[in-house]
Amino acid sequence: MTHPAPRRTVLLVTGAAALAAGCGGGSGGDGSSGGATEGTPSAGASGGRELAKTSEIPVGGGKVFADRKVVVTQPAQGEFKAFSAICTHQGCTVATVAGGTINCPCHKSEFRITDGSVVAGPAPRPLPAERITVQGDSIELA
Ligand code: FES
Repeated sequence: MTHPAPRRTVLLVTGAAALAAGCGGGSGGDGSSGGATEGTPSAGASGGRELAKTSEIPVGGGKVFADRKVVVTQPAQGEFKAFSAICTHQGCTVATVAGGTINCPCHKSEFRITDGSVVAGPAPRPLPAERITVQGDSIELA
């Protein structure tokens, strides 16, 4: 009845290694030396992040791009804004842009097309702004 003492296994090292690997670091990002990180093999939509043509976005309104989780608005002629399409209430995707607001179908939150601020409903925070650039007649996610 003599059992030898079991070996101890120390797992701390692997944890540390995983941490190190997961850390992206904070080095400057404008060099783009290679750009080898491509994790999403998205089908179709080859090259570019074009979201829409400017002509698709009505003046005084906007358009929801549910697949991109972005809503683009044009509060005034030539002035384009973009916001997250994820409602800050419980995470539904907003569905429509009408009457000067971006509207969530789940519990009727409404967000202003000019700045994403809450106009009505239970949403606690504005829709976060998304960065876009307009190149000619093309709107791209920045
Ligand atoms: S999830 Fe949008 S109003 Fe509740």
